[in-house]
Amino acid sequence: MSDTSVTVSAAANIALIKYWGKSGEAGNQPATASLSIGLEHLRTTTSVTLSGQDSIEGLDDKATSRLAGFVDDFRDQFNIRQPVSITTENNFPTASGLASSASGFAAVTLALTHLLQPDLDDRGKSRIARRGSGSAARSIFGGYVQVVLSDDSYAEPIMPASKWPLDVLVAVTQEDSKSMGSSEAMQLTAATSPVYDNWVASHAADMEIARVAIRDRDFLRLAEVSEHNCLKMHGTMMTSRPPVLYWKPATIAIIHLAQQLRAGGTRVFFTIDAGAQVKLICEPNDTQTVIRALESVEGISRLIETRVGGDPIIQ
Ligand code: PMV
Repeated sequence: MSDTSVTVSAAANIALIKYWGKSGEAGNQPATASLSIGLEHLRTTTSVTLSGQDSIEGLDDKATSRLAGFVDDFRDQFNIRQPVSITTENNFPTASGLASSASGFAAVTLALTHLLQPDLDDRGKSRIARRGSGSAARSIFGGYVQVVLSDDSYAEPIMPASKWPLDVLVAVTQEDSKSMGSSEAMQLTAATSPVYDNWVASHAADMEIARVAIRDRDFLRLAEVSEHNCLKMHGTMMTSRPPVLYWKPATIAIIHLAQQLRAGGTRVFFTIDAGAQVKLICEPNDTQTVIRALESVEGISRLIETRVGGDPIIQ
């Protein structure tokens, strides 16, 4: 590490209580709070070097221009002119509902602020990351994290992973890009779904149940509210016009499997973001049972095994 260059690894996160919808203002101000877990092994590694000229390496054209806009916005906020060279790499598929934007914008935020705004606190960093993507506000931290709604919403850690070390399995059921990006899908949902207003109105109650369940390490309570919140979010998407239906047949097969396993006493529950992949959260004693059960499901191209964690690493 030097004063002119830094490398940061930030982890993806998955929301158990989802952010879905914006409050209309600029900068990805969320319409709902959210609560997530960091994913220890799904990471973006980003290096930033102060240089004579801007450059970005490691992303496709669309992601490159989104990141360039984010860097310009960051410099405008702090009245900085410094050009930067950025190289970035994900160790998991991008744009397929695996939250690469969360780890990506968190990593670049931590690198830029380390070099150019070293006195900024974590709340300030989270707010900057949010401007890149709403879920990135949470990837500034590892473990159990919540977004607090305010005029300028931000995330904060609620419990370290070590206090409740759950496993996470990511069942990849679609390798190519999802059918619609989350910002576009959120806008469509808010404008056309007849159940969107109820989604927003009932959200704070789900947050409270999940916070208590995490505090008490109450797996079954967290399972019930997380699955409910996930299905309610997808309900708003499916009832949009035109409908947004991300799921594949394997997505539905895994939902059924998780519910059957839990009814039989295996501690597992599912959640699904804007995409077809299913994330299964398991008590570590039951993880192998879930892995074996997944072998019977057709259409899973990959199974990524990880756990709650994801503290950022700055080198
Ligand atoms: O951060 P975005 O704009 O990709 O939106 C994320 C939306 C969900 O993943 C579906 C939910 C969430 O809270 O992460």
